[in-house]
Amino acid sequence: MKILVTGGAGFIGSHTVVSLEEAGYEAVILDDFSNSDKSVIGGLQKILNKTVPSYAIDCRNYAEVRKVFREENIEGVIHFAASKAVGESMEQPLLYYQNNLGSLMTIIDVMLAEGISNLIFSSSCTVYGEVDELPVTENAPVKPAASVYGNTKQIGEEIIRDTTAAQPIKAISLRYFNPVGAHPSGLIGELPIGKPNNLVPFVTQTAIGKRAKVTVFGNDYPTPDGTCIRDYIHVMDLAEAHVAALKYLAKQSEDKFYDVFNIGTGNGNSVLELIHSFEKVSRKPLTFETGPRREGDITAVWADASKANKELGWKAKRTLDEALEDAWRWEQQLV
Ligand code: WQD
Repeated sequence: MKILVTGGAGFIGSHTVVSLEEAGYEAVILDDFSNSDKSVIGGLQKILNKTVPSYAIDCRNYAEVRKVFREENIEGVIHFAASKAVGESMEQPLLYYQNNLGSLMTIIDVMLAEGISNLIFSSSCTVYGEVDELPVTENAPVKPAASVYGNTKQIGEEIIRDTTAAQPIKAISLRYFNPVGAHPSGLIGELPIGKPNNLVPFVTQTAIGKRAKVTVFGNDYPTPDGTCIRDYIHVMDLAEAHVAALKYLAKQSEDKFYDVFNIGTGNGNSVLELIHSFEKVSRKPLTFETGPRREGDITAVWADASKANKELGWKAKRTLDEALEDAWRWEQQLV
């Protein structure tokens, strides 16, 4: 079964391509390479010992996207392609709404035109905002987004919810928590272009000497050690969740279907716990200092992933230590 992976040269997309191929699917990458590097295709070639077909196309280009569907005989879509920098989204809202929502709507348009019905959407726990109850379940209220990026995920889910109510599309939104780590081969990983937004690339770039220090954004939060808590999930566990979701979709007999699943480990770790875990697995002391809180950060969030465990038969298997070991191996081979 051929699966179109939009944003397939990105961090989560490329790792999902590996899991798809290992599960017997054939992946086809569609990526505009605006925030990913063509070297990822080479990394995938080494891991999979095959060349994954990839098309450098903007998802909003209906004619080009439709051509790929036809040429490759696509039977399902995993839609990752989106701009995802929270800070940048606040500076350039229109760019985010045009890209993230325009891409999604074009993909769905082409699916309907081609009679393809299986869609997995890359959503985010960011839709929950500052949660009232932890761990957070899929029934938790979706709160007003704290960023334009988060809002594009919320609106994306609504577009899919409303489309699947009216037209023959079967879809699942996967709400990711914090993806970290890299493929254990060290051949693909998180490749932030320019200054990283996320914590783990900052940690590994500091450890390798590319950055002078990690700044902990606030240690006066109402948490045991004062730093924010997140659910850090190994990117390979996250990748495998997409395969489980595709298999689950294939079992749905009705022609219209929609559901949402949290994809997290169910464990929360603080920034300081992550830093100390990294120092342990890398055996390298890390230079860090405490700075002011970052605008828009929430205190704590971690998943109740029991719905995915039960219905998708998926559960995170890898630990934070393993994720940091894999992230460190990736960083070391990057130099
Ligand atoms: C994690 C924690 C920071 C950097 C974001 C998006 C979310 C998803 C994952 C795409 C926070 C702290 C960070 C640093 C720090 N992205 N931190 N120093 O903000 O939880 O989630 O990435 O889907 O939508 O919002 O991840 O890695 O940026 O931060 O102290 O240099 O690390 O304050 O508590 P976040 P993050």
